[in-house]
Amino acid sequence: MSNFDPSKLPNLIGHVIIVTGGHSGLGLATTTELARHGAKVYMASRSRDKVQAAIKLLTTNQPGADVHFLPCDLADLKSVKRSAEEFLRRESKLHVLINNAGVMCVPYGETPQGYEVQFQTNYLGHYLFTRLLLPLLLSTVKISPKGTVRIVNVSSDDHAKLAPKEGIVFSESCKGRRLSRRARYGMSKLANVLHSKELALRYGDEKNGLLALSLHPGIFKSNPTQGPRSGTALNRIIRPLVEFGAPGPEKGCWNTLWCAASPDVKPGDNGGYFVPVGKKGKASADAQDEYLSERLWEWSQMELDDAGFL
Ligand SMILES: NC(=O)c1ccc[n+]([C@@H]2O[C@H](COP(=O)([O-])OP(=O)(O)OC[C@H]3O[C@@H](n4cnc5c(N)ncnc54)[C@H](OP(=O)(O)O)[C@@H]3O)[C@@H](O)[C@H]2O)c1
Repeated sequence: MSNFDPSKLPNLIGHVIIVTGGHSGLGLATTTELARHGAKVYMASRSRDKVQAAIKLLTTNQPGADVHFLPCDLADLKSVKRSAEEFLRRESKLHVLINNAGVMCVPYGETPQGYEVQFQTNYLGHYLFTRLLLPLLLSTVKISPKGTVRIVNVSSDDHAKLAPKEGIVFSESCKGRRLSRRARYGMSKLANVLHSKELALRYGDEKNGLLALSLHPGIFKSNPTQGPRSGTALNRIIRPLVEFGAPGPEKGCWNTLWCAASPDVKPGDNGGYFVPVGKKGKASADAQDEYLSERLWEWSQMELDDAGFL
């Protein structure tokens, strides 16, 4: 569907949507368009000040935009759990969950729960958030038109370019120090694709009716000093060259918008990986591996269950 642009989105009045990292970069552009079409959008983010600034900007440009802050630090699973609980107290429906937030190629670090920071921020925190919100998403399916309720994982073509040849190296998710930070980023983005694939397998049937997609947003210009752009020194040098001529996040968000709300998404697209805009992408062999997606799901469930988060 390469002729997609945000004007093709349907009316979203009455829809409740969460965008993680919805206050900046791709996330803010996504929030802005969804709110423009009438959705009530929660920005699940770790910084109150940044979100308040984003809300101020957004509501100045779009008076009446229904946008809200949901505190959520993906690098701390306790915060993720609190965030889901707060959302469940505040809302009785959730139509779309967009797992967008991410860090890219940051130095090795460990979260309070002992996981490698990219793996938890980009994948495991989103897995927990999604699991805790799943009952609400599934109950929303029952009262919504078919194909409305969706989970979107923002991945990257780096899932294929940078992930280690073994795919997901479980021993490197915590304490392991063998992989480079680029390989860790690729591994976390591979996990995003596998996450959507497994969600579609488990909850995309006739009975449950949930749509779960993953995507590469394309290359777009974003904040050079934060989040995914911080990267390595080499990345900071190369990045402006890579981004030369690339669009800003206002266009970079189109594929996310297509996955989240386009009526052109079909049941057969469930579990798929999409490249701009709305085209079936060629996911890596690991990303298509059903054994690996099941194993990742079971591993994540066991880890979070053992630690009392599920
Ligand atoms: N830019 C590209 O060309 C490109 C290409 C492929 C894929 N992507 C993917 O697109 C997504 C958005 O990236 P972007 O380019 O828009 O980058 P960005 O502007 O840096 O946005 C990243 C967002 O993630 C949030 N975040 C980081 N750590 C977090 C945490 N622990 N808890 C909650 N939120 C956290 C950041 O919040 P703070 O402001 O608090 O840091 C920020 O809102 C990422 O998943 C990235 O992997 C981007």
